[in-house]
Amino acid sequence: MKQSGQLIDKLEAESHLTKEEWIWLISDRSPETAEYLFEKSRYWQQKYYGNKVYTRGLIEFTNYCRNDCYYCGIRRSNRAARRYRLTKDQILECCHQGYELGFRTFVLQGGEDSRFSQEMLEDIVSTMKQNWPDCAVTLSLGERTYESYLGLYQAGADRYLLRHETAQEAHYKKLHPPELSLEHRKKCLFQLKEIGYQTGTGFMVGSPGQTPEQLAEDMLFIRELEPHMVGIGPFVPHHDTPFAREQGGTVELTLFLTGLLRVMMPKLLLPATTSLGTIDPRGREKGIQAGANVVMPNLSPVSVRKKYDLYDNKICTGEEAAECRGCLERRMKSIGYELVTDRGDFPGDL
Ligand code: 5AD
Ligand code: FES
Repeated sequence: MKQSGQLIDKLEAESHLTKEEWIWLISDRSPETAEYLFEKSRYWQQKYYGNKVYTRGLIEFTNYCRNDCYYCGIRRSNRAARRYRLTKDQILECCHQGYELGFRTFVLQGGEDSRFSQEMLEDIVSTMKQNWPDCAVTLSLGERTYESYLGLYQAGADRYLLRHETAQEAHYKKLHPPELSLEHRKKCLFQLKEIGYQTGTGFMVGSPGQTPEQLAEDMLFIRELEPHMVGIGPFVPHHDTPFAREQGGTVELTLFLTGLLRVMMPKLLLPATTSLGTIDPRGREKGIQAGANVVMPNLSPVSVRKKYDLYDNKICTGEEAAECRGCLERRMKSIGYELVTDRGDFPGDL
């Protein structure tokens, strides 16, 4: 505990650890270290965000995907996936409902679906910005060209989420087919930042083959990228993927890493993720208590929710948008936090 405690103090003071120090801190954790960490992570959370929790309305607008990631339920080789696309009107209807419910950020997330052309996407983004000028638009559309990212930014998109999934080359190859590369993923992330997006990355916790060494590399990469947001959630096996029989990630490690991220970069926007809520009924509450400050309830039409099936037993697939929002409001209240109606931008400079 002594040495771990000292490393946490060092991380807080310098916001940097060596790879060896990260490995030690991650491998050697204990309930006592975690408590020590969470006291600090909550201190920084309170300093920048108080007891306010930002909310983002998630619109899962297509589950067609040209990629074949081994962990993901909507990978292209999953013939059992029931595919859907929302129309522009359906997407706008989600925003309309979301706005009434108090959402001021909309996240358009989808598989890499080329049926949505650049022009269509720019049109959707600019219409959203015209209709709801006080809202932020976040995109989560995977890897695209610099020109495409730039065009969408010029159409009005404010933020972009693209998890790096793992920052170690060999591990990236274990999780992805050969046509995908960590190098390209990283290049996209640096381009997004350069263009001016508030940029989010992140990774799965407990994905097959992950060890403390790879997590150390994730932390080092995040430090180097300096994103505005980091989404982490446990890996949850999906029955129709090559990883169906693999072990899932744990709540305990996800919370510990959440705390470390908050202490390393105190202003980060850190969601308590749906996958964390999936493996533990109070997972999102625990995520907030470990230092997270964002939740992302689902705004997709209930008719398609079960089809955006990234992993097994995903929560919030039967509830209406209003129910999801209400549910999270109660959950946050139960731990002394409140959901706020706010764009929830990154505060100040990096
Ligand atoms: N378990 C947990 N998270 C997953 N994702 C995809 N598949 C799974 C899974 N089986 C996450 C990825 C992706 C995000 C949209 O969902 O990290 O970036
Ligand atoms: Fe969706 Fe609870 S947040 S049902």
